[in-house]
Amino acid sequence: MSDLVAVILAAGKGTRMKSNFPKVLHKIGGKPMLEHVLDAAATSGASQKIVVVGFGSEKVAEFLGDRAKIVLQKEQLGTGHAVLQAKALLQDFAGTVLILCGDTPLLQGSELKNFFTAHKTSGAAASVLTAFTDNPTGYGRILRGIDNDVLGIVEEKDATAEQKAVCEINTGIYCVESPLLFQVLDTLTCDNAQGEYYLTDILLKLREQGEKIGGIITKDFDMIMGINSRRQLAEAEGIMRTRVLNSLMDSGVTIMDPASTFIDAGVEIGTDTVIYPFTWLEGTTKIGKDAIIGPNVRLTNVEVGNETQLQFLYGHDCKLENNVVAGPYVHLRPDTVIGDNVKIGNFVEVKNSNVGVGTKLPHLTYIGDSDIGSGVNMGCGCITVNYNGKKKYRTTIEDDAFVGCNSNLVAPVKVGQGSYVGAGSTITKDVPANGLGVGRSRQVNIAGWAEKYRNS
Ligand code: UD1
Ligand code: CA
Repeated sequence: MSDLVAVILAAGKGTRMKSNFPKVLHKIGGKPMLEHVLDAAATSGASQKIVVVGFGSEKVAEFLGDRAKIVLQKEQLGTGHAVLQAKALLQDFAGTVLILCGDTPLLQGSELKNFFTAHKTSGAAASVLTAFTDNPTGYGRILRGIDNDVLGIVEEKDATAEQKAVCEINTGIYCVESPLLFQVLDTLTCDNAQGEYYLTDILLKLREQGEKIGGIITKDFDMIMGINSRRQLAEAEGIMRTRVLNSLMDSGVTIMDPASTFIDAGVEIGTDTVIYPFTWLEGTTKIGKDAIIGPNVRLTNVEVGNETQLQFLYGHDCKLENNVVAGPYVHLRPDTVIGDNVKIGNFVEVKNSNVGVGTKLPHLTYIGDSDIGSGVNMGCGCITVNYNGKKKYRTTIEDDAFVGCNSNLVAPVKVGQGSYVGAGSTITKDVPANGLGVGRSRQVNIAGWAEKYRNS
């Protein structure tokens, strides 16, 4: 075990969220708040993460999987009591415990690392990360002595008028040496305004034992913002969004209109790609360089190659290679792979299919459960008939085939390499390579019919 472990407090109900879900699972930047905190803890250098769960513990545990150790706080008796639940897991640990809250999704791992380094350098037994704010309402206030040493923390509800005027607040982030931490937690009492075991009380107690206490100030007030309500959730979402967009712009991506662009944390975009307005890039989406995305594109878990151009399109759980041109009005559904240089025009839907290099699907086409080779041309209005009401079947269209307009390819069926399908066909049998498949009734012309009809 390295000399830093993180304990993340996430047992509270989050009453003010008015939600049936645990607060820490509400999303910001496309990820649960708790995930952002776990990421920051990992960046800080913590070798182990322990999450204290309580309200909605099953859902939180399900989300966590094996990404963190879990301890249950059956009753929420206060932040001090919450940290104490990790005692059994950290019995043999001699090092620093970084204490974080699960509802502070804007934490920056690099700042936590700096905090840990400053704590270690100072030689303090416990350090609290503090911040200055014009509006300290709701936060615990930092009490400093004449020599500027931290004396302790007083909660708002227990503070005198003079203490309430203090603008240096407790961020709720601490580094405390173990096993000292658990020894002092064992001695906490709950004789305060809220009848809770306050974690904040450990500072005073340690000081009384002659230990050195540190208060390290952060300038990044956004970073420590705790989410207690839906309004704060929206506010944090805005801050996170700006951060993500700024970092992408700094890395060489053009974002025409940040106000109408929504990009999840973790989305990757290559240099010189241009994002037009009204674009949503979500989940694990990854875009190459020199691409043009938008306007009005929503991609969820989509991989996009270099120089690809997409507009008015929705794609999810699929992949587009390089130099694809698609849109407007295109729907790309899961398990689809679109090859290099493919062109997809208006009102085309592709699902669970592979489309080969340079193939064209220009207009009004449905491709489902199909394997289409390279250099294929699908005429306007072609449909792969993949479902008979009971089962789904695949359609194969080999390289360089030409499928005439308004054809139905009734799967399972194969259109051979280099073959043609006559326009308006309903193809139910395989078309041989280099052959022609026509499946429609022959036209009959009746000379003079119209004249007779008009005069009758
Ligand atoms: C706490 C601090 C306060 C600080 C503020 C920073 C205490 C006593 N006060 O106040 O000084 O300014 O954070 O945001 O620590 N939790 C549990 N189990 C519990 C109680 C809380 O897991 O029994 C968790 C909550 O889910 C939350 C975190 O601990 O993630 C903080 O609890 P909360 O009740 O929000 O503390 P504050 O009143 O905000
Ligand atoms: Ca809080």
